[in-house]
Amino acid sequence: MELPIEFRNITEELAAGIPVKKLISAANAISERYRSEAASGKPLITNDTEAAAYAIVRMPATIGASGSAMQYAADRYDGEINTALDIGAGTGACSWAAAEVFPDIEKITCLEREKSMIDFGRTLMEKGDFPFECQWISRDITAGFDMKADLVTASYVLNEMPEKMQEKLISAMWNATAKLMIVIEPGTPKGFKNILRIREQLTESGAKILAPCPHSDKCPLPEDDWCHFTARVSRTKLHKQLKGGDVPYEDEKFCYIAAVRDDCTPCSSRVLRHPKIESGKITLKLCNTDGISEKIVTKKDGALFKKARKADCGDEL
Ligand SMILES: C[S@@+](CC[C@H](N)C(=O)[O-])C[C@H]1O[C@@H](n2cnc3c(N)ncnc32)[C@H](O)[C@@H]1O
Repeated sequence: MELPIEFRNITEELAAGIPVKKLISAANAISERYRSEAASGKPLITNDTEAAAYAIVRMPATIGASGSAMQYAADRYDGEINTALDIGAGTGACSWAAAEVFPDIEKITCLEREKSMIDFGRTLMEKGDFPFECQWISRDITAGFDMKADLVTASYVLNEMPEKMQEKLISAMWNATAKLMIVIEPGTPKGFKNILRIREQLTESGAKILAPCPHSDKCPLPEDDWCHFTARVSRTKLHKQLKGGDVPYEDEKFCYIAAVRDDCTPCSSRVLRHPKIESGKITLKLCNTDGISEKIVTKKDGALFKKARKADCGDEL
């Protein structure tokens, strides 16, 4: 999922009063902190310049990742989503993605600890004509919350906390979930480990896995493998300046888990890697209801061949 260009213009307009040099050093400071202090539970973004740098450099990618994860879940979900809760909302990425994927939402609540992130996110929604009511609440999410919503999401949040804290937060999120809960994490081996632990905790609490897995049983991947997907997002001139490099797009790798309270029908097979396409033959690594398999599809398979040719990593087959 890609942000409309007007949206990016508003983000960059909001940061226009800050010299580019200051934004570059804020972007560098954030990534250094994410490298050295991740999972510490400490605040990683603490002032207005860093919040603006985050919105320019990271928000397009986190919208792309959370939007893709939500779309995969929505493809398998036939209930109606009217309310949403965005946990660790940052500058609102997940809420913007939810607005695109679940058009029946009437109200969203964003919980966030950092004032600078709340201020930027709230102003962005005001200037960007966010399509429904949004309430921003200043809250340390590890201290618990008692609101409920049809959809509860946390995007790129759990990886900022130690394991015990994650467990407590997942339990609070599941209690808050009336229908569907989605957690998105970075597409790294560590992000995937978090997702596996979250998946186990959720199924033990009675949740049914909607996506990406075709079932709610134990994950069949071997320990040294990890399931992740990619969202491609374009980069603006300012984005390139802040991150360095000339490539006009970036590929954001992410992992996710979507779980529901009611019975559901997950897909029967999901593509786990970019398909290998050769003349007249496509090789796919699939996760199926009965485990992992490699499938070769040839022109003789007709419609399946056509579907496999268009399929990408993360898609159903
Ligand atoms: C990497 S940002 C992700 C923001 C947004 N969800 C996104 O996908 O772009 C993580 C956010 O979680 C917030 N956060 C981390 N720990 C928190 C806590 N204990 N209470 C409230 N917010 C927290 C941070 O302040 C930050 O804004």
